[in-house]
Amino acid sequence: MSSESGTPGLPAPPPTGTSALPAGTYDGDTVFVTGGGTGLGKAIAIEFARLGASIVVASRSSDHLAAGRAAIEAVGAEVEVVECDIRDAEAVGAAFDAAEDRFGLPRVLVNNAAANFPSPAEDLSPNAWRTVVDITLNGTFLVSREFARRHLAAGSPASIVNVGASYAWTGGPGFAHSAAAKAGVKNLVETLAVEWGPFGIQVNGLVPGLFPHEDMTDDIREGLEQAGGPMDGHADRQPALRVGERRELGWAATFLASPYARFISGHTLVVDGANWQRRTLANPPITTVRDQLGRGAFLLED
Ligand code: HXC
Repeated sequence: MSSESGTPGLPAPPPTGTSALPAGTYDGDTVFVTGGGTGLGKAIAIEFARLGASIVVASRSSDHLAAGRAAIEAVGAEVEVVECDIRDAEAVGAAFDAAEDRFGLPRVLVNNAAANFPSPAEDLSPNAWRTVVDITLNGTFLVSREFARRHLAAGSPASIVNVGASYAWTGGPGFAHSAAAKAGVKNLVETLAVEWGPFGIQVNGLVPGLFPHEDMTDDIREGLEQAGGPMDGHADRQPALRVGERRELGWAATFLASPYARFISGHTLVVDGANWQRRTLANPPITTVRDQLGRGAFLLED
């Protein structure tokens, strides 16, 4: 993709099915991916599978589990799916039991599952706030805790990759709940990397930029379209002059958890072509979140 002025932007990545890592890098390993049945979680799971990993997909939705299973089988890897609400510590324990029964203890955990929808902060009900924080932050902690306890008990090395968001640093107008939760997730990366490093557990974060995919929720996709037109027209709004290809995120995840990244821990890697740093003194005119979402004036009885 290039702009009309002829500036090329960042080059397109190598094709699907290629990798910077040697074939078989993950042979014999199992990777546990929360929310791995759809969207970016599925894209990450696929890249681990291509490199030889067996995959465990955890999700609340049987449809998402079926989609995850099909995607992993399509690249010829072994897959187990487990129904799990990551807010429920007992369910998380049962999901790891099922994973261990099938493949042994997973060596890699990808905390990808997250809740999100756009809303002006003042319109969020207490339960809406709690739900997003509970899934995104508390769920990430509960799954990390279960995974780490099993590795600490076994004395085995492991790697965690937490999927984050750049509004963990910047704040996220229209996404107060998710931005606050993702800031917590980023902070957890830094804490847990230090606590668990001495026991051989590496903890990193991975932040996606704009990777359009068919599983985006309608309200997030519509918000993006309202801000920048149809998804395929977003390229010239990115410093890279293109959006991300999902495999690029998967490659980053597979690198972070690989033997070649053993000395990288406590780091959050942003894969967004520098889009989140595109802040200047002259930004587009301010539109309130209420106006962006077509909410009208705030009324106390709402
Ligand atoms: C306002 C909403 C809402 C919405 C749910 N709620 N959806 N409020 N707008 N669109 C409120 C409900 O009214 C309820 O509050 C409370 O949230 C809990 O709703 P439930 O439906 O009972 O919760 P649950 O089924 O547990 O979870 C629903 C969900 C979740 C939070 C919407 O299914 C979800 O997040 N799905 C999307 C997952 C996803 O796409 N994640 C990746 C996002 S990407 P009341 O008060 O009525 O009880 C990302 C990166 C950043 O995060 C992207 C930046 C653009």
